[in-house]
Amino acid sequence: MKTISHPAFQTASGASVVRLGQGTWHLGENHSRRSSELAALRCGIERGLNLIDTAEMYGGGRSEALIGEAIRETDRASLYLVSKVYPHNAGRANILKSCEASLKRLGTDYLDLYLLHWRGNIPFSETVECMEELISRGLIRHWGVSNLDTSDMQELIQVPNGTHCVTDQILYHLASRGVEFDLLPWLESHGMTAMAYCPLAQYGDLERGLIGNRGLTAVARRHQASTAQILLAFTLQRSHVIPIPKSSSPTHTEENAKALDISLTAEDLAELSRDYPAPTRKTWLDIV
Ligand SMILES: NC(=O)c1ccc[n+]([C@@H]2O[C@H](COP(=O)([O-])OP(=O)(O)OC[C@H]3O[C@@H](n4cnc5c(N)ncnc54)[C@H](OP(=O)(O)O)[C@@H]3O)[C@@H](O)[C@H]2O)c1
Repeated sequence: MKTISHPAFQTASGASVVRLGQGTWHLGENHSRRSSELAALRCGIERGLNLIDTAEMYGGGRSEALIGEAIRETDRASLYLVSKVYPHNAGRANILKSCEASLKRLGTDYLDLYLLHWRGNIPFSETVECMEELISRGLIRHWGVSNLDTSDMQELIQVPNGTHCVTDQILYHLASRGVEFDLLPWLESHGMTAMAYCPLAQYGDLERGLIGNRGLTAVARRHQASTAQILLAFTLQRSHVIPIPKSSSPTHTEENAKALDISLTAEDLAELSRDYPAPTRKTWLDIV
């Protein structure tokens, strides 16, 4: 099992966090899919995928509530729960209320990691001070950010305690490799983990042609794997990256978990890079 070695990525029971998480955007929004979504999350936990990513934004809290139900019978200390605060709530006026509401929906008394969802108008210094206060109250164990490009990260670490940030959750998949130029190396050199969101490019919805791409199909055939598994294996190549694919069914979750066993070769990477080359200059961070 590939795990993250950074000390901030340990569960309360001391277990390591497995390098493939479970995304949950749009989960909990449709009642007819509820049982399949619950089964998907529980299947992921059984397969060792102990990091679950959510946000107060997702379904107006319904994703957090669904997770709360899915984990009710699971030893909380074995899990690593990540949630995100809206930028407009990431200051003195609202952060405590937001965090407590997330905890209530999740049915837990602490988050392993709390992220600023994206940069808003509240100064970093205030958000960081609030995050540190949540840590001292025992409501969160660590904090991080999301959707921040390299220049934002450079600014963040200048504010008091800004270096306590443990992760930047960013869009990263085979067809969006701009972050390889500077942001991923910057995070690695500062001891921070990158969480890769949309690692499946929403299974091709973000990039038409990706799923049927010749190189991707050929690599998948060579590994007797699915294209989804190869897309995940691509992001898993870098040891400080945790992809967080979202799945609504145990079948997809099982398939995704097996991507942890795939190691891509130099030949595979060259083939994948033919149509989706590594960046040779700075491009701005993609977001959805
Ligand atoms: N920080 C941010 O701003 C931000 C932004 C976007 C996302 N995120 C996080 O990142 C997570 C992942 O991103 P995402 O949900 O947008 O996109 P994604 O994980 O790239 O793609 C999800 C899509 O892929 C499908 N899928 C999953 N496994 C599959 C498989 N093995 N074969 C075929 N299709 C498969 C899912 O279908 P089914 O649902 O039918 O299984 C769903 O349609 C989110 O859920 C969220 O937690 C964060």
